[in-house]
Amino acid sequence: ASLRQLLEKMPKAELHMHIEGSLEPELIFALAERNGVTLKYSSVDELRRAYAFTDLQSFLDIYYAGASVLLKEQDFYDMTRAYLGRAHADNVRHAELFFDPQTHTERGVDFGTVISGIHRALQDAATEWGMSGALIMCFLRHLSEEDAFATLEQALPYRDKFIGVGLDSSERGHPPEKFARVFARCRELGLRLVAHAGEEGPPEYIRTALDVLKVERIDHGVRCLEDAELTQRLARDKVPLTVCPLSNVKLRVFDRAADHNLQRLLDAGLTVTINSDDPAYFGGYVNDNFTEMFSVLPLDQRHARQLARDSFAASFLPEQDKRRLM
Ligand code: ADE
Ligand code: ZN
Repeated sequence: ASLRQLLEKMPKAELHMHIEGSLEPELIFALAERNGVTLKYSSVDELRRAYAFTDLQSFLDIYYAGASVLLKEQDFYDMTRAYLGRAHADNVRHAELFFDPQTHTERGVDFGTVISGIHRALQDAATEWGMSGALIMCFLRHLSEEDAFATLEQALPYRDKFIGVGLDSSERGHPPEKFARVFARCRELGLRLVAHAGEEGPPEYIRTALDVLKVERIDHGVRCLEDAELTQRLARDKVPLTVCPLSNVKLRVFDRAADHNLQRLLDAGLTVTINSDDPAYFGGYVNDNFTEMFSVLPLDQRHARQLARDSFAASFLPEQDKRRLM
């Protein structure tokens, strides 16, 4: 079989995907109509033309505007269902999804509405396709630690519906340390911990995410290579990096796909996984991320198998499930 077929067919886990980032322009318009929400854009094409990003913030502004059409439990279900169907087509067998409750609770949508709709879609995917899934609640780092604590309080009645917490949104100027106490509390609660670090922000943020927040995986982390000692530590401790190649190109972390440092990360002995981040905004789902990287970098079948295996190894699945899927 060709390398492309191997990439597409191989079972994989997706570990870095913001469910609100899976909202395709067509669904944004359908939900806007269903809910009577007025958008700044007059058509699907006009919205799609606005997806010309210069950096992380220019994307986040549009991403939060897109999420404004989500009001009802069924909206969160429909969004999640659409993503899981695409992921199933890409042979994703396990998906750990980020969601951003503060984007919705700030607009008056109840926390329970958000998590119940998303969770119900995960249950249906498990029943219909045997796909497993889990939810990771992200705190928006441009908001305060106090806001994060309030969100955690709202989440606790739904503790059985999510497995961990993460940290996302505008990275620069919002170092991990800002959330030291709330992450300590989440750790006491037995939640799994991850954080975005070293996407746009400096390698120092990767270090403090590990040392201060005590996260188990780093989301993105591509800027670690600027710090040799940190790179060695990540390799030695097998800290997984959930890398999102198409995202990094769209948000200008790298100028072109061929400039992406994926191969150098692998050569440095790091545990890396390939993910789609916000597939509706960045031009592709997880298989598109694989095929683009393998077409521009000198990666081979062994790399493909390693990336698939590590996607399960780096997941929060119980060990026996990992072994079954790997
Ligand atoms: N929210 C959604 N996608 C994100 C990303 N790539 N970085 C930070 N916050 C995000
Ligand atoms: Zn992300």
